[in-house]
Amino acid sequence: MKTALYAGSFDPITNGHLDLISRAARLTDKLIVCVTQNQSKNALFTVEERLDMLKSVTSNYKNVEVDSFSGLLANYVAKNNINAVVRGLRASMDFEYEIQMAQMNARLYDKMETIFLMTHPNNSFVSSSIVKEVFKLDGNISGLVPDEVLKYMKNKFNK
Ligand code: PNS
Repeated sequence: MKTALYAGSFDPITNGHLDLISRAARLTDKLIVCVTQNQSKNALFTVEERLDMLKSVTSNYKNVEVDSFSGLLANYVAKNNINAVVRGLRASMDFEYEIQMAQMNARLYDKMETIFLMTHPNNSFVSSSIVKEVFKLDGNISGLVPDEVLKYMKNKFNK
């Protein structure tokens, strides 16, 4: 049984993330989607809120599980017998950051494999940060995040 991991901040999950989840889930027996608990980024949503959103939007996928971890991704991969980590590449801007992470992770755990999926062109400009900024300034983000997430956003910003 092959298990893949898709880890991220998911603050919040966007339709770009969701597209990647649905495609990665087709390529593996089990896909674990993990929220990282590290507080280096100033998160808008708590880990619990992000887990709730992830659970709700992935409930249709029978081979997708949701989890969270703190500390190093390499340690989570080693402990949970993960075969590969999946990451999305939107454009060349992502490449530098992603190759650095993939190579550092491989140094930390010698069985680490990182697999990259190209983001669907419809989502190549979508990121959690840009979605939050546009929403805060009253821009329309429908279609960029799942409807469930839009409800969480409205609640968070009292809109
Ligand atoms: O969605 P993001 O924020 O781009 O995902 C980045 C993430 C969470 C995959 C990365 O920051 C990570 O792996 N964090 C866990 C801590 C860790 O292992 N850091 C060293 C990475 S080389």
